[in-house]
Formats: sequence, C-alpha cells, structure tokens
Amino acid sequence: MPLTNVQARDVEAVVHPYTPLNRLREIGPLVLERGRGVFVYDTQGREYIEGMAGLWCAGLGFGDEELAEAGAEQLRKLPYYHLFGAKGMEPAIELAEKLKELAPIDVARVFFCSSGSEANDTQVKLAWYYNNALGRPNKKKIISRVKAYHGVTVMTASLTDCPTTTSISTCRSTACCTPTARTTIASPSRARPRRSSPPASPPTFAPSSSARGRRRSPPSSPSR
Ligand SMILES: Cc1ncc(COP(=O)(O)O)c(C=O)c1O
Repeated sequence: MPLTNVQARDVEAVVHPYTPLNRLREIGPLVLERGRGVFVYDTQGREYIEGMAGLWCAGLGFGDEELAEAGAEQLRKLPYYHLFGAKGMEPAIELAEKLKELAPIDVARVFFCSSGSEANDTQVKLAWYYNNALGRPNKKKIISRVKAYHGVTVMTASLTDCPTTTSISTCRSTACCTPTARTTIASPSRARPRRSSPPASPPTFAPSSSARGRRRSPPSSPSR
C-alpha cells in the first residue's frame, strides 16, 4: 500500500530508534494523533488500546485533564529551569519530597533525570563515584543479565542484551527482561575485542551486537 502523505513526510524527516529503517520506507510508521485514557488514535481515526503506557511512562493515561492543567500552569509561570550550580525550584522540591515518602530509605535524596537510560547511566556513575571516594578506583565492572534491557545511552546499551528487532513492531521477545543465571559484563577498564567475522544479517540499530560478542568469553568475577 502506498504511504500516506504524513507517513512519507515522517520517513523523509525522522529517524526511529529500534526500527529497521529500510523496511520502514516500504510500510511507513504508525502515526498517532491523540490519546484519551488507555486509548490512542492514529491519523486515520483508528483506535488502539495502549497497554504499554508508551515506554511505561504514561501511567496516568492519555489526555489527563489534571496533568494538562498542571503542565499549562507551570509552563506559564516558569517553563524551564535546571538544577545545576545550586539552582532550585519548588516543583522539583515537592516532587523530591513525594518520592522520599515513597522510598524505603529514610535519608533518601532524589537525583532527577530525563529518561530511564539516563537514570541507569547515573546509577553507574554513582557506583563508580562511591568506590572512588572509598579509595577503590579500580572497582568499575558492572554486571548485567543476558537479555537484559537497560536503555540506549552508550553505557546502558553496553549493558543491554535485547535481541535485535527484525520486524516493524517493537521488541517481540517474550524472554526479554526475564532474569537468567548468566551474565554480561560491561567494564571500561577491560574492553574486549569486537567479533571479527561479519554479522550474518545486515546490521541494525539495535545495541545488542557488542554485548553478544562479549558473551563468547566466560565472564570473570567482578573486581573487588
Ligand atoms: C528496564 C528498563 N530500563 C531502562 C529503560 C530505558 O528507559 P528510557 O526509554 O526512558 O531511556 C527502560 C525502558 O525503556 C526499561 O524498561
């Protein structure tokens, strides 16, 4: 079927993560226009139950009035500011207080990030920072599980072992995110050589090939 106008514009202008881009040119993206509650609607007006809440981050549903109101109010008042260099703002303090109430640690403090990938990157940096501060600068190795998904930044992609997506849909592996006994290891201090033979299928944007190459050698124990 020929692409609609909006699909053709998308293909010419947008790069989609976790998507085989050559196939996308043939069948086009699913272009969504609006959402209400658990439903989203495409540009043809077709309705879909959105069971994943986006990438698990639209838990309040789509088109939530209260959320839209709160957003609009803050956008008018102070649309943006950062927390670098000892800057603060009340909404950030309020949210941090709320999260502290939920966290099972009395002395918890909140470090805000913009995505899960960035949050996981920060976890790694904090672990390294902590060990550096304790005089253990060589303790840098991070262990993750086979088929784990941790995100798309350089560090979190190197900790990810999600199977390559070959269809137009998002990751279809039912085994994904299932804990297994085996491990993959990301360590900046002991990077291993990449696989020398060419990949069997054309390369895609999925971040798992380097993790798979590493897994060929038996994992060594984390440094202490
Ligand atoms: C377990 C897990 N870690 C990390 C991420 C990455 O989060 P984000 O897509 O917000 O970067 C996700 C979701 O995509 C996830 O499910």
